[in-house]
Amino acid sequence: MIRSAVAMDLAAIMRLERSSFPTDAWSEAMMREELASPHNRYLVLDEAGRLAGYAGLRAPVGARDGDVQTIAIEEAARGRGQGRALLRALLTEASERGIREVFLEVRADNPVAQTLYRSEGFADVGRRPRYYQPDDVDALVMRIDVPGWAAAQASITQAESSGQGAEAPAGGDLPELCAPEHEIRPTTTGKGWC
Ligand SMILES: CC(C)(COP(=O)(O)OP(=O)(O)OC[C@H]1O[C@@H](n2cnc3c(N)ncnc32)[C@H](O)[C@@H]1OP(=O)(O)O)[C@@H](O)C(=O)NCCC(=O)NCCS
Repeated sequence: MIRSAVAMDLAAIMRLERSSFPTDAWSEAMMREELASPHNRYLVLDEAGRLAGYAGLRAPVGARDGDVQTIAIEEAARGRGQGRALLRALLTEASERGIREVFLEVRADNPVAQTLYRSEGFADVGRRPRYYQPDDVDALVMRIDVPGWAAAQASITQAESSGQGAEAPAGGDLPELCAPEHEIRPTTTGKGWC
C-alpha cells in the first residue's frame, strides 16, 4: 500500500536511497529535512511493513508549480507498476494542492525513468548540462500540466467504470524541446534529481 512517509521511515528510506542512487545519494540530514518540510509530501510503498519504495513532491501551498523531488522502487519490486502508482499519487497530491505545473529533473542516462515520465504525460522542456556530479551527466528537465493530467485521469476512470476503456494520458506528441538554459526555472531546492 501507498501511505504517507513518517519520520520513523527515515532509516529504511536512506537504505533504499543509497542503493538506488549509488553515486549521488542525499545525506540523511537532507532527507530528514525533506520529510519534515511542510512544503513537501513524501509517500512510501509499504509492502507488509517493509519499505519497498518512496517518492517526494515539493508543492508549497499557494504555489503555482511544484517539483517531483525523488522517486525510487527497490530493485526486486521494479517493473510491477509501483513506480507509476507512486508518481500518480504525487500528481494527485499536486492537483489537490492546486498546483498547475510539476517539474522534474532526470538523468539523461536514465531511460527507464524517462519512459515512465513521458508515458505519464511529462514533456521535455530543457536540459541542464553536467547537472549530476560527480558523474558529469546532463539533466533533462520535464514538465507536466497538472489540470490536464487530472482531467485525463478522470476520463480514464469514467471510461473504465462504463466498461469502455480509454487511452493512456498523452505522452506521444511532445512540445518543442530544449528551451534556452536561462529560461528554465531553477529547482526550488537546487538539489532534486527527479
Ligand atoms: C524509475 C523507477 C522508479 C520506475 O519504477 P518501476 O516500479 O520499475 O516502474 P513501473 O513498473 O511502474 O513502470 C512504469 C513505466 O516505466 C517504464 N519502464 C519500467 N521498467 C522499464 C524497463 N526495464 N525498461 C524500459 N522502461 C521501463 C515503462 O514505461 C513502464 O510502463 P509500462 O509498464 O506501462 O510499460 C525505478 O526503475 C527505480 O526506482 N529506478 C532507480 C531510481 C531512479 O532512477 N529513480 C528515478 C530518478 S529520476
